[in-house]
Amino acid sequence: MERTAGEDIIRVAMNGVTGRMGYNQHLVRSVLAINADGGVELPGGRRVRLEPVLVGRSDAKLAVIAKRHGIENWTTSLDEALDAIGNGGIYFDAQVTSARHEAVMRATAAGAHVYVEKPSGATSAESAELAAAADAAGIKHGVVQDKLFLPGIRTLKSLLDSGFFGRVLSVRGEFGYWVFEGDWRAPQRPSWNYRAQDGGGIVLDMFPHWTYVLEGLFGTIEAVTAKAVTHIPARWDEAGARYDATADDAAYGIFELSGGIITQMNSSWCTRVHRGELLEFQVDGTEGSAVAGLRDCVAQHRGVAPRPVWNPDIPNEERFLDQWQPVSPDGEPGNAFRLQWELFLRHVLAGGEFPHDLHSGTRGVRVAELGYRSSAEGRRFEVPAEAR
Ligand SMILES: NC(=O)c1ccc[n+]([C@@H]2O[C@H](COP(=O)([O-])OP(=O)(O)OC[C@H]3O[C@@H](n4cnc5c(N)ncnc54)[C@H](O)[C@@H]3O)[C@@H](O)[C@H]2O)c1
Repeated sequence: MERTAGEDIIRVAMNGVTGRMGYNQHLVRSVLAINADGGVELPGGRRVRLEPVLVGRSDAKLAVIAKRHGIENWTTSLDEALDAIGNGGIYFDAQVTSARHEAVMRATAAGAHVYVEKPSGATSAESAELAAAADAAGIKHGVVQDKLFLPGIRTLKSLLDSGFFGRVLSVRGEFGYWVFEGDWRAPQRPSWNYRAQDGGGIVLDMFPHWTYVLEGLFGTIEAVTAKAVTHIPARWDEAGARYDATADDAAYGIFELSGGIITQMNSSWCTRVHRGELLEFQVDGTEGSAVAGLRDCVAQHRGVAPRPVWNPDIPNEERFLDQWQPVSPDGEPGNAFRLQWELFLRHVLAGGEFPHDLHSGTRGVRVAELGYRSSAEGRRFEVPAEAR
């Protein structure tokens, strides 16, 4: 990395950059994109660039990535990477979930600030242990909560902040698309996602997302009811070999939030898309409703809402989907992962606010665990008050 005299640099050990998220979203679209724009801007105008130190299991794969992007440092030794960033550097982890705990514990012990993909642990106990170790070490810590930084969700948040909804009654979320099994068409997701023994499962994957989205927008989760299922019992892996799908590939959940808001959330890799975006939330309030996706948001105020009358015996005259108004975005759209990276960097370098810490990550993993218990036992579970 070329430097100019006196330039501010922070070193970032990045583990998992041979993976989908680590490479595309974090290395290329966040860290390298921030550098290409001259670094992250701190209050007062100072700019800091990031010097990645790649770490992973395959020297050959890391070397290819390093060469492609002109990165000088890579290693297959976590200790070497932690030495290279020194105290005050950042350790970032986008490995498979099951590999996260050990690596992040070592980074914390070495005095690095830590930033990790979600879920922040394979279990809430693991995640809570990371959070406690990070607090005890006095380092800054964070977990990726990218959905909050999506343009559509940011617009929804600004609509909420304006008081548009009156009292929010309910939220209905639809997430999903068909993930090919792999027999005749290549699957679009890594095979470990469909094996429970490798940390897979849609509940563990998506409930942490829903937890921080709901917390960030509406309130804390007080109770969880869920049904997790494996609709597709066998799939084909990256090498074309058939394997048993042991993890849940769809989950149907109800989250009861503070303030009496009821959220119903469908998460599925076994559904075909008949909606505007791969993720959509409909929010209904006493004064108005809105539907927000990854990028867009539309709203309908009670003053202009239609007055449907149930009568299937006559043709429907209402064009319901045309009766919503687009809501203009809140600020410039940008890559959600990069926006959160910039916030985390300002937190580390200048003490800025960062609510997306490992404690928040732990709450998400706990909600996932309660979802699994609810499904297995056919019961509704309350989140213990001290854990909300
Ligand atoms: N924020 C999001 O929207 C989002 C989306 C997808 C995945 N994720 C999370 O990101 C993490 C990585 O997911 P991904 O989809 O990039 O996975 P991936 O399979 O594409 O990448 C996994 C990475 O972990 C490394 N790894 C380390 N130990 C491993 C092991 N024992 N087996 C296999 N790989 C190992 C791989 O080399 C690779 O670099 C997961 O924790 C996942 O939950 C987050």
